[in-house]
Amino acid sequence: MPSIESEVTKALDIAWVRSQFPSLAQVNDGRPAVFLDGPGGTQVPQRVIDAISEYLVRNNANTCGAYATSRRTDAVIAEARAAMADFLHCGADEVVFGANMTALTFAMSRAIGREFKQGDEVLLTRLDHDANFSPWKALEEKGVVIRVAEINPSDCTIDMKDLVRKLSARTKLVAVGLASNAVGTINPVGEIIELARKVGALTYIDAVHYAPHGPIDVQSLDCDFLVCSTYKFFGPHMGVLFGKREHLKGLQPYKVRANTNAIPNCWEWGTLNHECIAGITACVEYLAELGRKVNSSADSADTRRAALLAAYAAIQDHEYELMLKLIDGLQQIPGSKIYGITDPTRFAERCPTIAVRIAGHTPLELASKLGDRGFFTWDGNYYAINLTEYLDVEKDGGFLRIGLAHYNTHEEVDRLLAAMREIVQ
Ligand SMILES: Cc1ncc(COP(=O)(O)O)c(C=O)c1O
Repeated sequence: MPSIESEVTKALDIAWVRSQFPSLAQVNDGRPAVFLDGPGGTQVPQRVIDAISEYLVRNNANTCGAYATSRRTDAVIAEARAAMADFLHCGADEVVFGANMTALTFAMSRAIGREFKQGDEVLLTRLDHDANFSPWKALEEKGVVIRVAEINPSDCTIDMKDLVRKLSARTKLVAVGLASNAVGTINPVGEIIELARKVGALTYIDAVHYAPHGPIDVQSLDCDFLVCSTYKFFGPHMGVLFGKREHLKGLQPYKVRANTNAIPNCWEWGTLNHECIAGITACVEYLAELGRKVNSSADSADTRRAALLAAYAAIQDHEYELMLKLIDGLQQIPGSKIYGITDPTRFAERCPTIAVRIAGHTPLELASKLGDRGFFTWDGNYYAINLTEYLDVEKDGGFLRIGLAHYNTHEEVDRLLAAMREIVQ
């Protein structure tokens, strides 16, 4: 999926990128570590580590106190909110911080579910991570009907005809992922949001898997809610939720009395992870610097948002090339089967996250043997359990998942393929 912007964007400076991430230099048992586990959590640039420790050394305090470190803590949180507003393209008061995407989604499903009555419907998909499934399914206990849009098993895309069939005036909310963390499919969420709006349903978008691979624009999507996790895009272990101002104001949160009624504070309960919030600004700044480096006009375009878009254009070009090589190489391994889109002309519909099985080898065996050789991959269902059950691979260990990130190199992909050939021969 080379981007249109690539015509004006310089290629990613992979040496500079890798120099930003100290963990990439790790050697395990004499073998260089190759991080292909990004979908489970990416590595972090040095500046994120520095921001976290700087916060703890200089600013460590609770919020809203009448003294220096507390005031600085308030400023650190405001900066991170502004950074995430640029990242998501929304207002800073529409950014809610939380422990992780799952906790935020349970909180939101409880609050949104307050408005639903018996017989109201929520539409989910077979492709989604369980964190965008079970929190909504829990509403069954108050009589909400859960419907599930099926997938096309041949390429692991959402069956849009089925989705349309299951949408009706009874549908009050559609929850769908921007991209699948198991098989990499990028879903047509723009189209789904439009369909949902036509029947008056809210939309709740899980952007956790997509965030390291492409730019997110909640304004152009026009979704009601969107969630992501900063530890999947080079930041600390935290979750972030975007909610349209009108919903954050209109819905009634379960909260303690000390929380004000002002947004977003009324959605953030207890003391947040301030040091990680400091790291969030640094991770957005890392991406913005990458954007300024690949496109000098992004620098003069003066906004952090423009720099982020330039960064993602370069990331997408680089990941496309790696994905092309990896999928082609995997297909040549005897007995291999890739789940998801494999046609290069359709790579714009997928992330570089590859689910594969190889006949005669369990995913755990492959992941363990790769791990011994320094390649860090995942095996199993990664909580996309509806999908692995539906494709009937759950009982045999799910998939081997190879997750590319922009800090991976062609040379790493070549070495991974050589290792796989050696393991399966
Ligand atoms: C697509 C997707 N959604 C949701 C989650 C859950 O995110 P968190 O760990 O922040 O709760 C994950 C985590 O792997 C994921 O990949």
